[in-house]
This record gives sequence, C-alpha cells and structure tokens, in this order.
Amino acid sequence: MSKIEFSLDSLPDTLGMAVDAVAKKFKQVGIDGARLDARLIVTHGLGVEPQKVLTHPELSIAPEDCQKIIEMAHRRIQREPMSHILGEREFWSMDFKVTADTLTPRPDTETLVDVVLSKVAKLPTDSKLGILDLGTGTGCILLTLLSEIPNANGIGVDISEAALSVAHANASSLGLLGRAAFSQGHWGDGLEACFDIVVSNPPYIPAQDIHTLSAEVSKYEPRSALDGGEDGLDAYCDIAADLKRLLKPGGFACFEVGIGQAEDVSKILSDSGFTKNEIHSDLSGIERVVLVNATI
Ligand SMILES: C[S@@+](CC[C@H](N)C(=O)[O-])C[C@H]1O[C@@H](n2cnc3c(N)ncnc32)[C@H](O)[C@@H]1O
Repeated sequence: MSKIEFSLDSLPDTLGMAVDAVAKKFKQVGIDGARLDARLIVTHGLGVEPQKVLTHPELSIAPEDCQKIIEMAHRRIQREPMSHILGEREFWSMDFKVTADTLTPRPDTETLVDVVLSKVAKLPTDSKLGILDLGTGTGCILLTLLSEIPNANGIGVDISEAALSVAHANASSLGLLGRAAFSQGHWGDGLEACFDIVVSNPPYIPAQDIHTLSAEVSKYEPRSALDGGEDGLDAYCDIAADLKRLLKPGGFACFEVGIGQAEDVSKILSDSGFTKNEIHSDLSGIERVVLVNATI
C-alpha cells in the first residue's frame, strides 16, 4: 500500500484518498473521531453526500475544492468545532445553523425536549400553548417544541443579538417564523406576557472550570453561553426570581442542569415558591432536567 503524504498545502485529488489523508493527519494530532470528521469535511468541501466516500471513492476533486478542504482541515486541526466548520448541527433530526455566536446544540438537551413533550401529551389536545425559551441560542429548544406542538407559539429571548439572528434564520429555514418571535434581553426582564411553558438551558459551567473543558468548547464556544458564575448557578437564581410572574397558573417550567446541579437548582426553585418539583435523568442516568409546576 502506498504511503500517503499530507501536508496542509497538498491533498490527494480523489475523494477516498483525500479522506484517508485527512483522517491520518487528524489522528496524528489526536482528534477524536478523526475519520468521521475527515469524511464530513472532505464531502462538505466537495458538495457531495458523506456516503459517496463508500460508493464513489474515485471521484476527483478540483484544485479549488482541494483548497477549500485544506482550509477546513486546518481549522479542525486548530480544534475548531465541526459545527462551526460545517455551519450546522443536527438536533432532534433537524438541521440548525450554528455560528461562533451560538452554543452548538447538544444531545443532552434533547432530554429537556422529551420531558416537555411528555408533559404536553397529557394536556387536552386543543390547548393553545405559549412557550418562553430563555437563552435561546440557535433556537433549538423553542423551534423543536414548535415543530412538535402545532398549536403552540413562542418567544425566544437571548442577551446576544448575534445569537438571535441565528435563531431567526433557523426559524425561517424550518418554516416556523409564523409561530416564533425573538427578543433581546436579560432573561425575563421586561416581558409582560405570561406563558404556559417556560424552558431554559442557561449557562451553567462554574467560571473557574471553563478552562478545563476541551479546546473545542473553551476556546470556540461563546463565553456567555457557558459561564454560570462562581458556582454555575447564577442564571437559575436570576430566572427563579421572575418565574412566578412569567408562568401562567397551571403552567410548568423545565430547566437543563449540569452534572450534579439538579438538587441545588431544585432548591433554588423551591425557595422561590415552586415546591412541586421533578428531576429527570438523561439516557446515561445523569440528572439533567428540573421541572417545576406552577400552582393552579
Ligand atoms: C447554554 S446556551 C443555550 C443555548 C440553546 N438554548 C441550547 O440549548 O443550545 C445559553 C444561552 O443563554 C444566553 N444568555 C446568557 N446570559 C443571558 C442573559 N442574561 N439573558 C438572556 N440570555 C442569556 C447565551 O447567549 C446563550 O445563547
């Protein structure tokens, strides 16, 4: 078998060989999932489906596409997340635009969506529901809920204007703009309406732990999406203080929490008058979601 050389200024000019070469380089620099990332980058650069690597490895790559692929591979070697390089991430089987201004949607967050949908399934099917998503980022939670609950509409709030424009673009590409609105602000400040469902996946990493996260997260994801203050719980305290005003009687709120935070968040919410709390775990058994019910 011939030895494939790959430096950042050259790349073999067929699909299969280019994937091998990029994967080899990624392995050398210690990137987890090197082959998958290589396959996605090369096929994205070439504008073909990832499975073409298996069905048509002989496809040739034009010099300008080679250059694009080399640039993307170089970004990955610098540990830029795949979601930033490809500009999107799948969540709940839908594609969400992602930029450096938004947290990349995580599979963990699908647990929150699942908990909300199970609760909504017990409501009368004709109920019109208003949803508030605090810290909406890409809009992945709000837009997924709207796609699954046809009689709902909702507002996504974020402190970041740049994140809101990504959420707006996602609402548009998913055909949900008619039922979604976005507003810049600090959590629920200034919102006059109240809602049947409040959801939030706020920043919850203790500030001093951020540097211990992978470079993909600590160097590239927005600090405002990660930093939960000294103990990681600042946002929950802020939101809890306003939750009574934001929730309709009989409504409920659902929060994603970090590992080991569920009891603390539940206590913060109990101290704000929400005593009927539930903690739900994700598929790995990690306590991931705190749900509170407003009194009727
Ligand atoms: C952990 S990210 C969650 C993003 C998205 N909801 C998700 O689950 O992928 C937290 C989001 O909260 C936003 N945020 C941070 N501080 C905020 C504040 N004071 N008011 C509103 N949003 C805030 C950040 O900009 C970020 O988009």
